Parts: sequence; structure tokens; C-alpha cells
Amino acid sequence: MSDAEAPSPLDAAAVEAAVAEAVQAIAGADSLEALKEARLAHTGDKAPLTLANRTIGGLSPEDKATAGKNLGAARARVNEALTKRQAELEADRDARVLVEEAVDVTLPVDRTPRGARHPTETLQEKMVDVFVAMGWEVAEGPEVETEWHNFDALNFDPDHPAREMQDTFFIEPPKSGLLLRTHTSPVQTRALLERDLPIYVVCPGKTFRTDELDATHTPVFHQIEGLAVDKGLTMAHLKGTLDHLAQAMFGPDASTRLRPSFFPFTEPSAEMDLTCFVCHGKDTSCRTCKGTGWIEWGGCGMTHPNVLRAAGIDTDEYTAFAFGMGIERTMMFRHGVADMRDMVEGDVRFTRQFGMEV
Ligand code: PHE
Repeated sequence: MSDAEAPSPLDAAAVEAAVAEAVQAIAGADSLEALKEARLAHTGDKAPLTLANRTIGGLSPEDKATAGKNLGAARARVNEALTKRQAELEADRDARVLVEEAVDVTLPVDRTPRGARHPTETLQEKMVDVFVAMGWEVAEGPEVETEWHNFDALNFDPDHPAREMQDTFFIEPPKSGLLLRTHTSPVQTRALLERDLPIYVVCPGKTFRTDELDATHTPVFHQIEGLAVDKGLTMAHLKGTLDHLAQAMFGPDASTRLRPSFFPFTEPSAEMDLTCFVCHGKDTSCRTCKGTGWIEWGGCGMTHPNVLRAAGIDTDEYTAFAFGMGIERTMMFRHGVADMRDMVEGDVRFTRQFGMEV
């Protein structure tokens, strides 16, 4: 703000000096902010020319006319300089904004990787789709399951080792009768109790066992379960269904082999092997299948009559088959994932390799 004294409105030279000072300050303002300050200093309440204007009232009539003319012209010049500088600075600002905010439409689009759905999930969907395409339905059950659905209804003896603490996560208190389901087979129980015959269902989902996390085990994993209940179903139907799934997952050369085994809820029971995805049975020194040409994929069998009877199904008329396999294991075979820990650690560099598809 100028400290200049108010010039006498009759002193043309002093008024001219005030105008010159104002015009210089205005011309020197290099931003709209600076111009605002100059405007205040030279046209505001305390500006010399404003103060001079206030003294006009006390002058004689002739002096009043001269002073009014002098000051009027002087203040008009200051205002004109302000208007001009304002326009210049606004034009500068507009030009600068246009450059600074310009969008180069020829630049490539934003290619920031955004992660992807987890391959366990997409592979699970892909396996389910194989069955949905054959007209099967998808069944789901709770992850916190009753001991009855998970074991008793599936014909497990009360002292079956799988019930013991080293395999099963029980829910406290011990008498709650609840656990984290150790397989997807309790969904079979639920389907048998809830659905009308015939039944063709697949049940994908999370399962839990008290395993340490290592390259081939994880305490939380996924299974997909199949259950078919109809008149006249045999192991041939089971085998055909498994071969179809194997081919949908691993290509037209894939097939399955059944080896006798035991599960309390199937009779007969079998381990299901898959053609070795590395050597396709052609390399006797293959390390993946140890030269046998087969690798273990899951369990299966004809549903035990006790299980069907517990659900009120007439076993003279109906037979059933069931199977279950691990989804992580399927991913290891299908995508050459060597270490299960990669599937649970949540590193997007792993997930991203699969994109939205598997
Ligand atoms: N539930 C069995 C397991 O987790 C697999 C299985 C499913 C076996 C269906 C037979 C029939 O090992």
C-alpha cells in the first residue's frame, strides 16, 4: 500500500505523480493476486486519489470544478489501466490453463494392472460348468457344519480316526456338535434330505483340516463333490462322468482309473487316478507319476445303502454314485503350480497370471 500523502486535487503535477505511480504499480502486477493489491492501494479507501477526492467538498465552487475535472480524469486513467491489465492477466491465465490442463488424446489408455479373480475361484466355476452343461444342479452347504452331517449321516463309526482332533477343527465348546466341514460330502447328506429324486448335484466349496501349510497341504482348501441318485446307476456311469470331467479339464487324451479303496459312505469305494499330465503315461522315469502314468485326483464310489436309507430312499429302486476331488490339486495338475502356498498367500503376481480366465 502506498504511503504517499493525498495530493491536493488542485495540484496537477501531484495528481499526475499519483496517477503515474498507480499506472506503474498496475503495469508491474504480474498476477491477478498482485493486481488486486494494486487496485486496493490505488483505488481503495486509503488510496491517495480517493483521499484527495474527499477534500473536494471543502473547496470553493470554482476550485471544486477544476479539482473535480482533474481528479475525475486522473481516476479514469487509473481505472482504465486496471481494466486493461486485468484483461491481459486473465488472458495469460486462460492460455496457461489451456496448456496445463490439455489432454493428449493420443496417449495410450491407463494400463494399470488391476489384479484378477483368484484362480481357485475361476477353476471351481469351470468345473461346475462341466456339470451344469449336463443338467446337474449346484448345491451348497454351510462351512460350519454339524458333526452329524459331516460324519454320522455319512456312516462314519463313532471312533473313526478322521473325527479325531488331528484332522478336524471342532467348534468350541466340545459339546457344541459343530465343526468346520472336513469335506464337501455333508452337502450330499443335505441334498439327499432336501431334494426330490432323481438327484444330480455338484457341491463346490471350502473345506478345512488341521494340516500345516506346506507345498502340498493347506488347512483351508476347496473340494468339488458330485452326487447322482437315480434308478439303475452303476459304476460305469460314475466312470463315464469322471472321464468326461477329466477330458473337459485336461484335454481329449485324459482319462481316469479307479483303484479299490475305502470310504465309510461309499461301497464299493475307489481312489480315482488321472492320466499323468506330465508324461501322459509315456515316460517310465517320470518324476510326477513315478513312472506309473497315473496320479491320484480324488475319491469316489457307489453311495453306501446306509446313507441312502438314512435319507429315506428305497435302495431296491435307487442307486447312487458320488465323487470328490480337491480344486487346489486340480490347479496344480492343470497349471503346473508346484507349491500350494502360492494359492493362499494372496500375491497378485500369482493371481494376475491367470487373468480373468483359467
Ligand atoms: N469326501 C472324500 C474325501 O474328502 C472324497 C469322496 C467323496 C469319496 C465322495 C467318495 C465319495 O476324501
